[in-house]
Order: sequence, then structure tokens, then C-alpha cells
Amino acid sequence: MPPVLKVHELSKTFGAVRILNAVTFQMAEGEVISLVGASGSGKSTLLRCINFLETPTSGRIEVMGEAISITSNRPGKSEITNRAKIRLFRQRTGMVFQSFNLWPHRTVIGNVTEALVYVLGKGRREAEDMAHSALSKVGMAEFRDRYPSQLSGGQQQRVAIARVLAMRPKIMLFDEPTSALDPELIGEVLKVIRTLAEEGATILLVTHEMRFARDVSNRMIFLRKGILEQDDAPEELFRNPASEAVKRFVSSVMPAAA
Ligand SMILES: Nc1ncnc2c1ncn2[C@@H]1O[C@H](COP(=O)(O)OP(=O)(O)OP(=O)(O)O)[C@@H](O)[C@H]1O
Ligand SMILES: [Mg+2]
Repeated sequence: MPPVLKVHELSKTFGAVRILNAVTFQMAEGEVISLVGASGSGKSTLLRCINFLETPTSGRIEVMGEAISITSNRPGKSEITNRAKIRLFRQRTGMVFQSFNLWPHRTVIGNVTEALVYVLGKGRREAEDMAHSALSKVGMAEFRDRYPSQLSGGQQQRVAIARVLAMRPKIMLFDEPTSALDPELIGEVLKVIRTLAEEGATILLVTHEMRFARDVSNRMIFLRKGILEQDDAPEELFRNPASEAVKRFVSSVMPAAA
């Protein structure tokens, strides 16, 4: 089966600073990959480049066989082939953020329906059916007529996940989906992500929940200063860290496993 996502020599610079340095990896359908590394190592930037919230400086990204290449002939100047595909990429790569970003003046069902109508062009009725089934998946169907302010953080994040899920992306990108939550609410969101993973969703996840990452992931990718230092099955990464940095990271997050 061809990969769902192929990232080839992806680089990103902000001014003179290189934030991602020729990052290369791929994901098969149904794979779950956790992206780990110290603060500032480029994890969020990598996710944002994959769905073109940031424009990469150079490299190639392929989603379901459709590619966008970015070349940089002159410093500060990037050229994108197939710019028209960016919209398609955004639809195929659904992003869940740390801050749920729900529209406060829309109900739960309204939040999930919106993009189905305006981006996918679904009729109101079909959109509501799709939204309802996505909300059921995350256990939020009974809250459909509430407003975000009437929900807990965990519930809001589950709605945000439903909103992405309803769009039926090929890959779900999660950027620290539980970092803004009170500790007692983290579990319900992780449970939803675990269910999606078990049902075969392709997931690229940034999280500080290392035990969860180790349990749920097929592979873990370790980034250090924008360089991919290791891409391995979790048990391999924990057992055989490829560099001193990975080793330090492993023993800091999992003292027991070190
Ligand atoms: N828009 C921007 N302009 C300039 N520098 C940026 C921008 N966005 C990110 N950076 C820099 O890029 C580096 C990587 O940031 P990024 O947010 O990708 O890290 P991260 O691995 O997600 O960190 P964290 O774990 O803290 O979320 C940081 O040094 C950051 O300051
Ligand atoms: Mg980040």
C-alpha cells in the first residue's frame, strides 16, 4: 500500500534560523506516530508545515500520492509547485490544537457542521448527520445544543476532535491535545484518541503523555533542533536510544524505563 504521508527533506527557516532540517519520514495507512523532543525542537512547526499553516522553506510533502514541492533558490524566497493543492492537503490533514479553538457563539453541532457546509459544500441536513455521527464517536452527541462555554475543557477538546473527524481526513495531526487540560480531564481525551487509533485512523501526534505515546504508537520520531534523530518502534527507542539526546530524553520522561 502506498504511504498516506511522505515527508521528504523538509526544511523550514525563520529568518536565519533553521527550525527544521531536511526531515524525512513516511506513514502508512493506520499508523500512529508520536513526535517527541524537547521544547523548541520543531514539533509544532513540522505539523504546521504538513498542513501548510506554515510554508516550508524547501522539501516535498506527499499526501495519498499527491505531492507539493517547495524549492528555495534564493534565501528567503520559496517556490511552491501545485499551490492549488494546498486546499486539498488541508482537507486531508485535520489538525487538533492544544487550545480547542471552538467558535464560542456556535453550538456544539454548529461548530462541527460549519466546515462541512462551507469547505466541503455539504447540504445542511447531510452535514448535521455527519456531525452527529462524529460527535457520537467522541461521546458528545448529547451535548450537541450546548455552547462551548457550557462544557469542560475535556468536552471542548472532544468536540474539536469531532470537528476534524467529521471532515474525514486521511491523517489526523494532534499538537499536544491534552496540554491545556486539568489533569482529571486528560484521560477522556486520550481515550478518544486511543479509540481512533484502534479503529485504524492514521495519526501523527505531539504529546507529553509519554506512557500513552509509547502504548498507542507504532513508531516514535525524535526531533532535536529540527533534525530527525530517531524513527523507531517505541520499545526500540526506549531500549536503544540512537543518540545521547534521545537517551537523556528517555531517562527524563521515563525514569523507570531507563
Ligand atoms: N513564526 C515563527 N517565527 C520565528 N520563530 C518561530 C516561529 N514559530 C516557531 N519558531 C521557533 O521555532 C522553534 C521551534 O518551535 P516549535 O513551536 O516548532 O517547537 P516545539 O517542538 O513545538 O516546542 P514545544 O514543545 O515548546 O511546543 C522555536 O525556537 C521557536 O521559537
Ligand atoms: Mg509545540
